[in-house]
Amino acid sequence: MTLQISSLKEYQDTYKRSIEDPEGFWAEQANTFQWRKPFDKVLDWNFDEPNIKWFVDGKLNITENCLDRHIPERGDQVAILWEPNDPDGEVVTYTYKELLAAVNKCANGLKSLGIGKGDRVVFYMPMVPELAIGVLACARIGAIHSVVFAGFSAQALADRVDDAEAKLIICSDYNNRGLKNIKVKQVVEDAMDLGCNSIEHVLVHKNTGGEINWSDDIDKWWHDVVDHQSAECPAEEMDSEDILFILYTSGSTGKPKGVVHTIGGYMVYTCYSFLNVFQYKPGDIYWCTADIGWITGHSYIVYGPLLAGATTMMFEGVPTFPDPGRFWQICEKHKVNQFYTAPTAIRALMAKGEEWPAKYDLSSLRVLGSVGEPINEEAWNWYNEQVGHGKCPIVDTWWQTETGGILISPLPGITDTKPTYASYPLPGVQTVLMDSDGNELEGNNVEGLLCIKAPWPAILRTTYGDHERCRQVYFSTFKGMYFTGDGARRDEEGRIRVIGRVDDVINVSGHRMGTAEVENAINEHPAVVESAVVGYPHKIKGQGIYAYVITQNEDTDDILRKSILDVVVKEIGPIAKPDKIQFVNGLPKTRSGKIMRRILRKIASRDSANLGDTSTLLNPEVVEEVKEGALV
Ligand code: WTA
Repeated sequence: MTLQISSLKEYQDTYKRSIEDPEGFWAEQANTFQWRKPFDKVLDWNFDEPNIKWFVDGKLNITENCLDRHIPERGDQVAILWEPNDPDGEVVTYTYKELLAAVNKCANGLKSLGIGKGDRVVFYMPMVPELAIGVLACARIGAIHSVVFAGFSAQALADRVDDAEAKLIICSDYNNRGLKNIKVKQVVEDAMDLGCNSIEHVLVHKNTGGEINWSDDIDKWWHDVVDHQSAECPAEEMDSEDILFILYTSGSTGKPKGVVHTIGGYMVYTCYSFLNVFQYKPGDIYWCTADIGWITGHSYIVYGPLLAGATTMMFEGVPTFPDPGRFWQICEKHKVNQFYTAPTAIRALMAKGEEWPAKYDLSSLRVLGSVGEPINEEAWNWYNEQVGHGKCPIVDTWWQTETGGILISPLPGITDTKPTYASYPLPGVQTVLMDSDGNELEGNNVEGLLCIKAPWPAILRTTYGDHERCRQVYFSTFKGMYFTGDGARRDEEGRIRVIGRVDDVINVSGHRMGTAEVENAINEHPAVVESAVVGYPHKIKGQGIYAYVITQNEDTDDILRKSILDVVVKEIGPIAKPDKIQFVNGLPKTRSGKIMRRILRKIASRDSANLGDTSTLLNPEVVEEVKEGALV
């Protein structure tokens, strides 16, 4: 088994060794997996191009490591435990043996649709077991999966399908979320009308049943294609550096980019980080509440836990249905040992009162995790006291879609915890703080830009179809460094606190969004002349979306606001809806025509007393107007 650190001394020794001899350290971890052919070399890299190769020339299939490898020892152990949206609905379980059979059937079904090695398959599905099965089936045959969060709009889906030039979309008919019944297949049809020219088939999983449109040439039922297939499917032999998946994520400019992860390194790192950060022990029930549409679901619902032979729970529903006790009711029902969620969920549930967690027996919990955005002290304390009863270490895990796995986190029961601190890098991870002139900030009690000095196995390899963009965004700011886009401080004892993005990326309810993306959506509205979007502190969401909009105004503000929101929902999805729209006559700009977002951010954050020097602006007079009209 992959190394599982069990004491502070071991953490310190392992960290030291991982830096002094990274190749030896990672070779040891990698050798705990099954390789069809061993790798010739541990690592080849430079951050200039960048060109990063782990476990060079090794051949393997990740699903043999997630599934087949576990059969002798834990074939009858539950691999996936699925809890439905309806609390009275039937729980579904797949043992490792059953999951392997289901993945193989699906893999054979995909082959029958002409899907093979290297083909891209887009998923647009709710949190049903078939999503995990489908993703693994792709990996089984060497197809590349790209999961699109099912809250994205038809336009956003079409953009991603087109960028990936996918051959197949796998979706559901409908989706139950709380009391809502969402027309999933309809969104796929709309996306097909907007593009998706590379799509040959749409494979539809019947989830709730109900009327849907059907096109005989394109649409296929999952049950027709998959159910009669053989439960044996030899795994395709893959190269360590073949692409496992593409996951689209927002940056500070342009359209979302397809972050590319490759097989060998991602496998080694997700298993290693899962075992250490959650201190998973055989027999534990582990639950991550994320959606598989985000990186957290990829790495810590599907791959990490299954590689480690864990029982991983998938939840179809939402935290507040049928009431705000749902998470805690599920923890009691399934005797969850490790629980991993986002600060935004904690804040939302905290606002409903401590009587909700108090109703349930939470004594099975041992580790509580947090991910996706900074966790404020109040939420951290509530989580610690009301959910963990002071007995469960909180692992505030910092990482990104691009990092593939958790890079900074306390190790529960091993390193200490401190509210709002993600704390220490995992062994194998060399975090550094830089000043804006490119100097490394040595010592403690410093604040700077968070970078990583050397590759870890799950680092992104490229952005799909645009390697230059990858170089530019992550590797050009500081020579020889991976730049995260986050600002951070290091306290007196060397713990790291990630403060937030220093670029034009905002984090709304743990969902990552580019302000430019939201602006582009708003600008699609026919009455909009120009817009500027910034984040501002929001009690529940972490950050809210504040839009300043210049219009040729014919309607009343409220009608216009509503129709702008509709356009954003259409272009991106409900998650990108601005919380506030302020109509303005002008936007503060530099003499070269660049919008001064710094000023707009301050105004939106009600911090407009000290806007700094505005005299260099092209139009200093608009600042007063914007300030006066600010929505507070
Ligand atoms: C933020 C999510 C503070 C950060 C796994 C990062 C965090 C971005 C934390 C990546 C944390 C994530 N504390 N900030 N524990 N975890 N972030 O790609 O700004 O959706 O750059 O990956 O979320 O978001 P992404």
